[in-house]
Amino acid sequence: MIYAAILAGGKGTRMQNTDVPKQFLELDGKPIIIHTVEKFLMCNRFDRVYIGINPDWHSFCEDLVRKYIGDNDRMRIVVGGADRNGTIVNVLDAIESENGLNDDDIIVTHDAVRPFVTDRIIEENIDSAIKYGAVDTVIPATDTIVRSDDGAVIANIPDRSTLYQGQTPQSFNIKLLRECLDSLTEDEKNTLTDACKILVLKNRSVHLVAGEVLNFKITTVGDYQLATAMLKK
Ligand code: CTP
Repeated sequence: MIYAAILAGGKGTRMQNTDVPKQFLELDGKPIIIHTVEKFLMCNRFDRVYIGINPDWHSFCEDLVRKYIGDNDRMRIVVGGADRNGTIVNVLDAIESENGLNDDDIIVTHDAVRPFVTDRIIEENIDSAIKYGAVDTVIPATDTIVRSDDGAVIANIPDRSTLYQGQTPQSFNIKLLRECLDSLTEDEKNTLTDACKILVLKNRSVHLVAGEVLNFKITTVGDYQLATAMLKK
């Protein structure tokens, strides 16, 4: 089976002055999360599309899905976790309790607030997750990246040709992801920033899929204004 997990459990605190988490803001007449979910539903290779949502917004999200998407027997809405990886774990638990787990099951995890993901990126995530077991979507770093340990002076300037910016989707063979998750120590859990790091900490290879500059994450008011302008065009 091939599953999508749309991660929508966040509160969007960096997007100021909104009454609703950013995934519910409207873009061109419909909420951001609906744009994103539609991209995944359009891909027939997904057996199920799960949304992980903050419990406070669960029924609100159900109403939106009913209004904009209607009945769809491939869709499921589950409660998200305390952090992004917690939301992924809750979706994994829901998948396993509903469908069990097979050796070749794949999950494609994606931020609800990246509505400009393309069909090509989604397809390549599925193909590469089937082939390699773990995949990250990245774009080459275009700015020079400067490392500073104290925020005052430069400690190092790494070679830009080896640096990439992480996007989503991030996609995995579910059994491999579970195995790595289950073997994390408490210290390792505290260093996690994203799902691919779970595999990296366990010395498993994570292959790269080429992202797109426009597959950006809507994080701030400026990002939202850019997304609005893009859709007006
Ligand atoms: N996310 C999630 N579950 C959480 C936290 C975040 O599914 N407990 C999701 C967000 O809803 C978002 C994605 O992860 O789609 C990327 O996270 P981010 O942009 O950091 O979203 P927020 O946590 O909502 O934003 P902020 O950090 O500004 O509060």
